[in-house]
Amino acid sequence: MTERLTPDDLPRAAALLRQGALVAVPTETVYGLGADATNGQAVAAVFAAKGRPSFNPLICHYPDAEAAWRDVVPDARAERLAARFWPGPLTLVLPRRAACRVELLAGAGLDTLAVRVPAHPLALALLCAVGRPVAAPSANRSGQVSPTTAAHVLEGLSGRIAAVLDGGACAVGLESTVLDLSGGGAALLRPGGVTAEAIEAEIGPIGRALDPGAAPVSLRSPGMLLSHYAPELPLRLAAREAAPDEALLAFGPDAPAAPLVWNLSERGDLAEAAARLFAGLRWLDAEGRARGLARIAAMPVPERGLGVAINDRLRRAAAPRG
Ligand code: TXA
Ligand code: MG
Repeated sequence: MTERLTPDDLPRAAALLRQGALVAVPTETVYGLGADATNGQAVAAVFAAKGRPSFNPLICHYPDAEAAWRDVVPDARAERLAARFWPGPLTLVLPRRAACRVELLAGAGLDTLAVRVPAHPLALALLCAVGRPVAAPSANRSGQVSPTTAAHVLEGLSGRIAAVLDGGACAVGLESTVLDLSGGGAALLRPGGVTAEAIEAEIGPIGRALDPGAAPVSLRSPGMLLSHYAPELPLRLAAREAAPDEALLAFGPDAPAAPLVWNLSERGDLAEAAARLFAGLRWLDAEGRARGLARIAAMPVPERGLGVAINDRLRRAAAPRG
């Protein structure tokens, strides 16, 4: 059963999030499906509840800019935009800090992280009470429209999440603008609540990754963003054993011997495997290259539940490089 919480239940919502449970949270844009971003299994549960067939990077939410800057490195443009538009419907993509608290799965393994401070009093109070970054995609099942009331959230996710915090209807009703500041030039990845013109008034001309009115990048080309990170070592899929020059990405209790092993989940749990996927790929890649190994062999993962998204990510990592 999904609990329907009122603003008076805020401490309960914060406690659930800190325990790793999923809570839908109102923001000024749309309701977000919140999870403790420092808890890999909680983040994995977000993808499972949404039924996402692949791991899209999620936005992390903070009570103020200072809290966000603990996890990402702002530049002068980011500080200026934050001072002008936060709290508000603007998401900034910035480089992760080495000490970033956010699980790699929340950022789909990327070196960047999308951060924002929402302008909703209940969301801000909750983020203060949780005291940790909260990863939250829109609180809808994958492929459905974003919810702007608690009733919409329950239509799609009732029984799949612990609770929804009812904060009434969302004022903006449109997702946040996503601006990538991680490269040299600023690039608009998704139009949203803050216009490109308003951003340009602060930091000068920005690149538009889209034609006006076109679908978001993530919809036009799912996974386009995920091409940033692939291991340098080639990946061999559906491996039943590892050769002497192969590092092994294992799954389940019956992993064969190998010179280097990262088991995604010895007990064969798909949520645990999802939470350990990106850290494992990075570790096997770095350690494997340090030890002169030739490739990473990945054992099969069942094609159900989160296994669908895990296999999607592994196929991308194994695809021929352009
Ligand atoms: O208004 C909003 O932004 C709502 C509320 C809940 O905050 N959230 C939301 O999240 O719309 P979601 O997951 O539905 O959309 C997140 C967008 C996607 O287009 C994703 O590709 C992009 O942000 N994104 C997240 N992290 C990114 C990254 N590191 N680099 C590039 N794009 C990123
Ligand atoms: Mg969405």
